[in-house]
Amino acid sequence: MARIELTHVTKRWGGFYAVDDLDLLIDDNAFVTLLGPSGCGKTTTLRMIAGLETPTTGKITIDGMTVFDSDAGINVPANKRRVGFLFQNYALWPNMTVFQNIAFGLSNIKEPGLSVTPEGEIVRDPKAGGAARKLTKEEIKRIVARVSAIVKIEPFMDRYPGELSGGQQQRVAIARTLAPGPKVLFMDEPLSNLDAKLRLEMRSELQRLHLSTGSTFVYVTHDQMEAMTLATRICLISNGVLQQYDEPLTVYNRPNNTFVADFVGNPAINFMNARGRQQEDGSFRLRILGEYDAVFTPTERVLVDSWYADAEKKIAAFEAKVRPEVKTNKDVPFNYPVAMVQDIPDDKTLDREDWALGVRPEFVSICEDGPVEGEVFSAMPTGMETTVRIRVGNFLLTSVVFGGVTYKIGEKIRLRFSGNGAVLFSRVNGRLVSTGTVEIRR
Ligand SMILES: Nc1ncnc2c1ncn2[C@@H]1O[C@H](COP(=O)(O)OP(=O)(O)OP(=O)(O)O)[C@@H](O)[C@H]1O
Ligand SMILES: [Mg+2]
Repeated sequence: MARIELTHVTKRWGGFYAVDDLDLLIDDNAFVTLLGPSGCGKTTTLRMIAGLETPTTGKITIDGMTVFDSDAGINVPANKRRVGFLFQNYALWPNMTVFQNIAFGLSNIKEPGLSVTPEGEIVRDPKAGGAARKLTKEEIKRIVARVSAIVKIEPFMDRYPGELSGGQQQRVAIARTLAPGPKVLFMDEPLSNLDAKLRLEMRSELQRLHLSTGSTFVYVTHDQMEAMTLATRICLISNGVLQQYDEPLTVYNRPNNTFVADFVGNPAINFMNARGRQQEDGSFRLRILGEYDAVFTPTERVLVDSWYADAEKKIAAFEAKVRPEVKTNKDVPFNYPVAMVQDIPDDKTLDREDWALGVRPEFVSICEDGPVEGEVFSAMPTGMETTVRIRVGNFLLTSVVFGGVTYKIGEKIRLRFSGNGAVLFSRVNGRLVSTGTVEIRR
């Protein structure tokens, strides 16, 4: 059973903050994905938890044991943290059979209180005392049999890695990682070498593996789809700073800011610049898409003035803890994309009447009586669904329609924004104001 806690963990190289003041609580038996663009600090975070990288400051505990504490001068080496790794470039020993590859790490284990169940599970009882002992040949056989059954590679035990397909090799690497019974399993983009079909299959196997091992999984990926489908919680990082740490559907439906909204979801969310004010009844009257009057009705009660006061407090607290030398690349709100036929540079000075309205493609509904006029800009059917880009004036909106619908390019259509999944952000600070519904009034 393993719960991992990171408190104020920072990794700095010279003046560059790869990970900046990260607080993270990974529950026992969780499947957490570290997600974010290339270079945002995912691997560094993982390596610090695993003990392969030394944080500059902060504290890390695994299973109640402090494995790192910069103040107390504690730094438990990686091999004493009882964690397993699976990296992108897993290397199997080419001159060893599958069996020998999996068994290799087991012959090095030497601990007191060690035993193996008939089913091949290692049991460690640190309180048992006695002399440290190694595993017997028979015990190793039982363990290897168990883990190879989990990843379904029993038929290949006598083959050499060169005689296996890429996906089979990957499974051997997973079995090898599982063999010593790690309480935490770290994986850094373990599926990136596989083709799309195999990756899908392995994802489903990893999910089952997570269930059957009961271990805590920490999984690095830059693929938002992979993060969405596998995780119990997603930890989304940008520029070394945590953006959101929530269940996948919360990240998708209630993104904390424009960066999160844009990063998660494929096709990406539609952003529209909006201008307007909150009304007496709590709704927002907004001008969008150049010429349309819209009413945004929040699903949560929100009062703009107190919302801004609260946001400013949070920003001030954040800025107070961020060192001046890194401030510059982190206090600027994310520049979200607004899709246009012809790009118009936007260097407007923003005020509190500027909003970014986000509507996911599944809520852009094409319908005959829709209040918004547009024409089909492009249509991409995949069989199961069709992604349609619609031109509205100079703007482009993406809609996803289920089923193989055929659209002609240039065809006139009408649309509305359906459902209550729209999201309103402040353009001043990029933060989420509320989710809600959008109704076009003109
Ligand atoms: N040894 C090092 N010295 C200096 N900078 C480093 C070092 N290792 C990593 N970095 C920097 O720290 C940042 C975070 O790196 P990290 O490997 O954690 O990124 P990542 O999120 O895993 O990216 P990717 O998806 O590309 O693997 C990067 O900007 C990288 O250049
Ligand atoms: Mg990486």
